Amino acid sequence: DGTPNGQSQRDGLLGKYEISDGEGTHMTSDVGGPIEDQGSLKAGPRGSTLMEDFIYRQKMQHFDHERIPERVVHARGAGAHGTFRSYGDFSNITAASFLGEAGKETPVFVRFSTVAGSKGSADTARDVHGFATRFYTDQGNLDIVGNNIPVFFIQDAIRFPDLIHSVKPSPDSEIPQAATAHDSAWDFFSSQPSTMHTLFWAMAGSGIPRSYRHMDGFGVHTFRFVTDDGSTKLIKWHWRTKQGKASLVWEEAQAIAGKNADFHRQDLFEAIESGNPPSWELSVQVVDEDKALAFGFDLLDPTKIIPEELAPLQPLGLMTLNANPANYFAETEQISFQPGHVVRGIDFTEDPLLQGRLYSYLDTQLNRHNGPNFEQIPINRPRVEIHNNNRDGFGQAYIHKNIYQYTPNTLNNGYPAQANQTEGKGFFTAPGRGANGPLTRALSPTFDDHWSQPRLFYNSLLPVEQQFLINAIRFETSHLKSTTVKQNALTQLNRISNDVAKRVADALGLPAPAPDPTFYHSNVTAGISIFNQTLPTI
Ligand code: HEM
Repeated sequence: DGTPNGQSQRDGLLGKYEISDGEGTHMTSDVGGPIEDQGSLKAGPRGSTLMEDFIYRQKMQHFDHERIPERVVHARGAGAHGTFRSYGDFSNITAASFLGEAGKETPVFVRFSTVAGSKGSADTARDVHGFATRFYTDQGNLDIVGNNIPVFFIQDAIRFPDLIHSVKPSPDSEIPQAATAHDSAWDFFSSQPSTMHTLFWAMAGSGIPRSYRHMDGFGVHTFRFVTDDGSTKLIKWHWRTKQGKASLVWEEAQAIAGKNADFHRQDLFEAIESGNPPSWELSVQVVDEDKALAFGFDLLDPTKIIPEELAPLQPLGLMTLNANPANYFAETEQISFQPGHVVRGIDFTEDPLLQGRLYSYLDTQLNRHNGPNFEQIPINRPRVEIHNNNRDGFGQAYIHKNIYQYTPNTLNNGYPAQANQTEGKGFFTAPGRGANGPLTRALSPTFDDHWSQPRLFYNSLLPVEQQFLINAIRFETSHLKSTTVKQNALTQLNRISNDVAKRVADALGLPAPAPDPTFYHSNVTAGISIFNQTLPTI
């Protein structure tokens, strides 16, 4: 039955940074002296407490500062340590070293989360779920900061604050599901139809997964693989759960939220603790660079999947989560994922959502950690040595011994050298990438079709799953106060499917909209015939 003693598995993961306050130890102050800390220092048993009591001051001062800002989104989560094992040598498609050899093992840490709720919210609220993985590779940290839904609500990062403001609690009442908050979310969704595809996934089973263990994960954006010789491919990341994908039904999700708000957190912790480590297979869809516009949608558009008929999943390796954090705050709370944490062999694309994320995570983490040295926290430290000229700042934990902290220098023989001058092999950015074009704030017209892929998704469901999705939309829209928002929602639903729009209108007591054939295509990857070319039919 595996190794039931999870606590012992957890020991030693972060090495010399771990403190165990076990048998045989006595209390010390933060500076090391032996202390008693159950009574403050007073002038006589009834007397005033003395300012000089540094033991009281230190204990209380530390307590007063225990909280750091919660994540602005994805505040609620749970994490675990594990291992990724590569199935083979994939150097033909990427120079990423962790994929360079069959059986090669790389330590990982994963944090699962919901998006909109606060740190203390219930696990089973309907939401998109985060699936963020850090690989501590032998060439530095790689993060795949993904979700359990393969697409996203918006196409340009500059709209993210609007999206989140519309789904967060009402500013006046701070009630997450106050009637106004419902109206604001659906007002945004129905006014911004790029949300429709993700909304459909969230209204289906992916919005209320059975547990974190029963979710798939997706990198969402198209990324690039780069080989040692600089050739590139477009890729999409997929995590497939080995536990099987499963969801709750809405009545269960609601009841569980009341009975055990920690349901998902507890499930993950106990599965690992009882020696049943969950696992996921990592795959990629690989597409040639010149095929970015070949399928009737734009591979830079994060609201689109690539149907597996067009690009099958290529399995790369298996991840197993086998150790719980020893300390939630130190590990799960302080880990700081960034889509910008990439290793050699993996590069970005021009997806305008991804480009904007590259700024946001670093920026918010400067706030969350009060300064620039958070990469030095044990859970964030890469498992390779760091050499650069960054120094000082709040909470500096490294002691830089090189006194010549500038480049170029002659006094330290030029070290640290640029990586391309050593065996470190320099480039991150694919050598062939370029950028040019007239400045514009507009999105490409190749991002314009918001309705074909939600239709593809809806048509892929079994009748019982379609009913599940419709029930969810009925439940959510029945709380809307604004008739305009209800009408707008029906207009967008009708562009996806007249069947959906009719069934929702029926529940809302509104007239069923007439079919809107402009939007219905037999070829579901063709969009609104944006491209003048022959397209594959699914
Ligand atoms: C967390 C911003 C889109 C997945 C966060 C955080 C911010 C953020 C500020 C908090 C980070 C922290 O405090 O450490 C954005 C912006 C987006 C965006 C500006 C779009 C412009 C996405 C997308 C995905 C995603 C498309 C999925 C592919 C996540 C996950 C976390 C997260 C999983 C939680 C990471 C963790 O567990 O610590 N995001 N996000 N986000 N985001 Fe995004």
